[in-house]
Amino acid sequence: MTHAIGIDIGGTGIKGAIIDLDSGELITERFKVPTPEGGEPDDIVDVVVRMIAGMGSAADGLAVGICFPAVVLHGVTMSAANVSKKWIGLDAAPLFAKSLERDIIFVNDADAAGVAEVRYGAAKGKDGLVILTTLGTGIGSAIIFDGVLVPNSELGHLEIDGHDAESRAAYSAKERDNLDWAQWTQRLQRYYDELEKLFSPDLIIVGGGVSKNADEFLPLLTLRPPIVAATMKNNAGIVGSAALSMEHPH
Ligand code: BGC
Repeated sequence: MTHAIGIDIGGTGIKGAIIDLDSGELITERFKVPTPEGGEPDDIVDVVVRMIAGMGSAADGLAVGICFPAVVLHGVTMSAANVSKKWIGLDAAPLFAKSLERDIIFVNDADAAGVAEVRYGAAKGKDGLVILTTLGTGIGSAIIFDGVLVPNSELGHLEIDGHDAESRAAYSAKERDNLDWAQWTQRLQRYYDELEKLFSPDLIIVGGGVSKNADEFLPLLTLRPPIVAATMKNNAGIVGSAALSMEHPH
């Protein structure tokens, strides 16, 4: 059995667990702490170090995969939509590696979720074009063709009707604007219509915390491709990061 640690840094919370890479299952509880106010690099690194220390001896020597809500190119964070702007241009991977005293892999959060769904979930064995979107603080996306990830797509930032799409359709927009499921679904319909028009996907997968309530909104959407909840719900980021920790950085 191969185990690895997956960490999912979000605009709102930081989650982590030890994952069994054969099954994609969590073999520990899911550790979760709020993202430190301001989302500053040093504070977030501290939280991750403490979280892994809190996993005890089971975490000793395990590979670590970390996912983050930004474009990540060769370990460098190129954007920062819902965290401190200090992340932009930061060589983040070595920062975590140094503090954790081991090699790590560092990737975009939605890409990690996409990898998890390809290996263990709703995209497993699916040919053609699969688009996974995470609906959370922002909207993340993973584009997968014939099981291969095309990294760093940023489909949450499509401009739709003059707005950054995630500012209208992310789950945080539902909460901010006090929308009921039907009202929010109208915004999602507009968003997914655009994705359908631009990409003609064969399958759309919806991840993020709200995917546990998928029954409240997915049946209200009318789209040509099937749209389903991520099998791993909000754990997809942790699971995918852990899975990617076994790969070489690129
Ligand atoms: C970021 C993406 C990220 C998504 C979900 C967006 O605001 O630009 O990189 O995947 O939020 O966290």
